Amino acid sequence: MNSPAHSRSVETGSIAGGVMSLNRLIDPMRVFVRASGAYMWDETGKRYIDYHAAFAPYLLGHGDKDVDEAVIASIRRSESLMGAGTTPWEHEIADLLVESVPYLEQVQLTNSGTEAVAFSIRLARAATGRNDVVFIQGGYNGWMDSVAFNLMDPASTFNSHRGGEEHSLRPISAGMHASTPQGAHAVEFNDREAMQSLVETGQIAAVIVEPVLQNIGIVKPQPGYLEFLRQLCTEHGTILVFDEVKTGFRHALGGYQSICQIAPDLSVFGKAAANGYPLGVVGGKAKYMAYCCHPDTARRVLIAGTYNAHPFVVAAATATVRKLKERGEEIYTHLERLGEQMESGLRALFAKQDYPTTIVRVGSAFVVYFMDHEPICWSDIARHNDAERDVRYRKALIEKGVFHFPVTTKQGSISFAHTQADIDETLEITERVLEQLN
Ligand SMILES: Cc1ncc(COP(=O)(O)O)c(C=O)c1O
Repeated sequence: MNSPAHSRSVETGSIAGGVMSLNRLIDPMRVFVRASGAYMWDETGKRYIDYHAAFAPYLLGHGDKDVDEAVIASIRRSESLMGAGTTPWEHEIADLLVESVPYLEQVQLTNSGTEAVAFSIRLARAATGRNDVVFIQGGYNGWMDSVAFNLMDPASTFNSHRGGEEHSLRPISAGMHASTPQGAHAVEFNDREAMQSLVETGQIAAVIVEPVLQNIGIVKPQPGYLEFLRQLCTEHGTILVFDEVKTGFRHALGGYQSICQIAPDLSVFGKAAANGYPLGVVGGKAKYMAYCCHPDTARRVLIAGTYNAHPFVVAAATATVRKLKERGEEIYTHLERLGEQMESGLRALFAKQDYPTTIVRVGSAFVVYFMDHEPICWSDIARHNDAERDVRYRKALIEKGVFHFPVTTKQGSISFAHTQADIDETLEITERVLEQLN
């Protein structure tokens, strides 16, 4: 399928920066025109088995019939955005979320994970009367000023870091207010010492952490780390926020919190919650969520948005969560089976190579690190992962019709729409790629 209109917009550059999210920049640039199930197609008609999944929301696959039909039915019933009062549908999805995720007592909906994280920070500041926030080096919690720091810093920027230390902050964007870094702190995942020395000051409003650090592949919490965070935050009156934008729904209907059985004070969801439709969820303990209706208006935390809980997105989320609830066993078993097939296939292929690799997987999320051990944090990856070979590997796969995002460590995501045959085909292509990758 050739589309001169698409090509023209890229060539003339009417889009500032050429892409509508700078995180989508790829080299070479491609124009995508369609996606269905496990596949997507570019404007030349080339088909890719898709493991990027638009940075992971497509847990059920692109264009899941049940989700799309729910959206179409909502449109046909004229469930338009009315922007006043409430609707029955938003109560339905709120109930479903609270029933499904163990540590959600109440929720609010936003249009993106970024907005949801921003709201969680406001709630934490209002509830604690403190300003400071700790987040994880190498993680990504959205692009707003309060957390837009230290994304995948190169090893040269923290050569003196030996654990137990806080990283200096490096904004990931120009144009942030000069005073913004005040009150933000970055520490390495799994670094208890560094976290403890910050939280013990009694000045930390919130610790924001992905329970599995998935911005940089799959970095698992070491045994006891999440329990340690829970205890530390409780002792010092700090709000523990689980950023489950990536882990939520992908690993279990109840989020990773249902697997690790650690109760965050607040948690944030997005991505797979509506299978690709734009949704963010903030939820948690009612005593914190209640700050959005605090009787003292000076202490009330604002949440707003013309499009919050848009009925079409709510219809998508309701259909997604309901499907995960009703067919969860079948869906998560399928995802685990394909994940296992992918992991063992990749292990066998990479075992024949003469450079070190480590395959890490949790359920349907996987990554190949070009290093000799499973990483525990970003500085471990920055120091040991062969990022240059990683990117060459990804680009060679893309050339042959397997789409992994061509940036080092980016997570692979298998969907319910993938089949055993897709994994077989992926592994055959991978074998051919490895024959030429040195
Ligand atoms: C862990 C995590 N938190 C927050 C976000 C921000 O979500 P959104 O892109 O929907 O604003 C992302 C996006 O990749 C994410 O991976």
